[in-house]
Amino acid sequence: MLVLIKENSHQMSLEGALQVATQIKLKPDSVIGFATGSTPLDMYKELIRMHKDEGLDFSKIVSFNLDEYVGLHPTHPESYHYFMWENLFKHININPTNVHIPMGMADNISEFCNWYEQKINSYGGIDLQILGIGANGHIAFNEPGSSLGSRTRIKTLGQKTRLDNSRFFNEIDEVPQYAITMGVGTIMEAKKLLLLASGLNKADAIKATVEGPIMAKYPATIVQYHRYATIIIDKEAASQLEGEYIDSSL
Ligand code: PGA
Repeated sequence: MLVLIKENSHQMSLEGALQVATQIKLKPDSVIGFATGSTPLDMYKELIRMHKDEGLDFSKIVSFNLDEYVGLHPTHPESYHYFMWENLFKHININPTNVHIPMGMADNISEFCNWYEQKINSYGGIDLQILGIGANGHIAFNEPGSSLGSRTRIKTLGQKTRLDNSRFFNEIDEVPQYAITMGVGTIMEAKKLLLLASGLNKADAIKATVEGPIMAKYPATIVQYHRYATIIIDKEAASQLEGEYIDSSL
């Protein structure tokens, strides 16, 4: 596991974008796993800039998103479909037929989840999976206590997650109770992981993830087992770490 500590969240985003761009240049038809939330937003802006200014070509990539709320239509402004198109996809030259985002309105959710897993496999798996982390140590919507071998499935959102995400809704009661999420096991099968975190409210989760024992209470801790996991964090998110890490803030 490579831990890169950057001066601030903007530097974190630039480094993240550089790593995604490098992957795409090395393998133009890369399968990229995308994440939503506040953390990757600035990285997506940089990828858009790279596309517009430097011609970074997304035309052959295939995308799979980590998760989606159950019951939100793709046109709902808080759905992750809407998020991805608004904040990245509509600004780059991705082929819409190569975009995969869990379908929160699926009639048969378990059938859909099996299909999603098969679809990922049909492309040979995910080359690079982008991840955020919840303050409670979740990755995607794999809440504390999730099985570390879990696959794509429906999950009940914890109260802490619903509270954290209520900032995007009018009130907490509007935050869906369920989500479809790639499992921890699904995520771990990606060939490379790129986990980003910034801010003091992520410091405890990062401490557990990088230096704590591996446990389902903090699903993100499993990334310690991954062969090619890169954790890019800012100084605030790194503030609880005790080990020595590369200070790559320059
Ligand atoms: P955030 O969410 O980027 O909005 O902090 C991350 C997550 O919950 O995985």
